[in-house]
Amino acid sequence: MRMFDIIEKKRDGGELTEQEIHFFVNGYTNGEIPDYQVSALLMAIYFQDMTKAERAILTSAMVDSGDKIDLSAISGIKVDKHSTGGVGDTTTLILAPLVASLGVPVAKMSGRGLGHTGGTIDKLEAVPGFHVEITGDEFINLVNKNKVAVIGQTGNLTPADKKLYSLRDVTATVNSIPLIASSIMSKKIASGADAIVLDVKTGAGAFMKNLDDARELAHAMVSIGNHVGRKTMAVISDMSQPLGKAIGNALEVKEAIDTLKGNGPEDLTELCLTLGSQMVVLANKAGSLDEAKAKLKANIENGKALEQFKIFLASQGGDASVADNPDLLPQATNKIELSAKKSGTIQHIVADDVGTAAMMLGAGRATKESVIDLAVGIVLNKKVGDPVKEGESLLTIHTNQDSIEDVKEKLYASIAISDEHVSAPSLIHDVVT
Ligand code: URA
Repeated sequence: MRMFDIIEKKRDGGELTEQEIHFFVNGYTNGEIPDYQVSALLMAIYFQDMTKAERAILTSAMVDSGDKIDLSAISGIKVDKHSTGGVGDTTTLILAPLVASLGVPVAKMSGRGLGHTGGTIDKLEAVPGFHVEITGDEFINLVNKNKVAVIGQTGNLTPADKKLYSLRDVTATVNSIPLIASSIMSKKIASGADAIVLDVKTGAGAFMKNLDDARELAHAMVSIGNHVGRKTMAVISDMSQPLGKAIGNALEVKEAIDTLKGNGPEDLTELCLTLGSQMVVLANKAGSLDEAKAKLKANIENGKALEQFKIFLASQGGDASVADNPDLLPQATNKIELSAKKSGTIQHIVADDVGTAAMMLGAGRATKESVIDLAVGIVLNKKVGDPVKEGESLLTIHTNQDSIEDVKEKLYASIAISDEHVSAPSLIHDVVT
């Protein structure tokens, strides 16, 4: 088999066979096929697309290129949730203990944040003592005992994806639905869950800026998951403005605690109940979405979800008393209000700009090496559609820096106030099964 023939076939719109896809993925991973030939193939895929079968084969080939997490020692149906990334997305911190409180095993492998979106591990590490450095055996034992545990990325998962993603980054081929879908799904499938709930974000703070692209990506990922035997569904949710009110690590933990107590922001609560219901049904712990939602709400109201959160924190070294006293979380020295320059209705709050402003405060990493400040961030006091009076606080900046004029300027530029009536954007745009 020759790489030249594979490139030529895809360039001319042909469908690659299983052998051809495995040949290029394996050959590239072990260094036998050079970057320039794979670059040419990626560009051909970018223009010619891939069939559903090709996408599933590419995903499986990337999964097979490295280690796979074996969760078979955990009893029950393991359902994973994956978000394509957004600003103020605290859902994992809430969903993990919430669905676990209904007996759904949550074996979560998470990462750190880079750029304008936060990482689940960074957020959890805002809880004093909490750590994710546990062995694979401890991880399995904790999930069997408590139904929930979080571990950092372990093993050599999907090395083919790592190499291909780096090459795509420098060859203008990141933005291709079959390549994005197979990249994300390869990591999810290698992580071992039986079923997968995807939260595909759309809007300014999301990877997919418009709804059509988000829908196409959701369909592509659901198709791959189901093709390779993992029950998969996707919710398409809004990320035109940040989710919830808090952006920043300790601030988001506090918001997660509020939500687990039933006092969280409306949009964050609604998204958690929507994603959580899907997870509970996929795990066979409820017969319908309505029943699942009612059970989740009940466990928020009766305190079981919060109790599960405390057990989870304590089991990984964290100070569970933060759940009763969130003031024990890291606090910034300065709290500065950003006041409205005019009266009207909030027209937009551009999510990625607010995420970047939080990063400038130190809440996120500009580069992989950046050290983050767990205490700092932003709490929105207004959301799109809310009325506001001149001089009223739009948001509160939590900072340890003395001079934040550049951050304030960025935040003012990200918020528009209209004289007209503005409706809040709908939160759930679509569900793809
Ligand atoms: N995230 C991924 O993991 N892969 C992509 O290709 C794009 C976003």
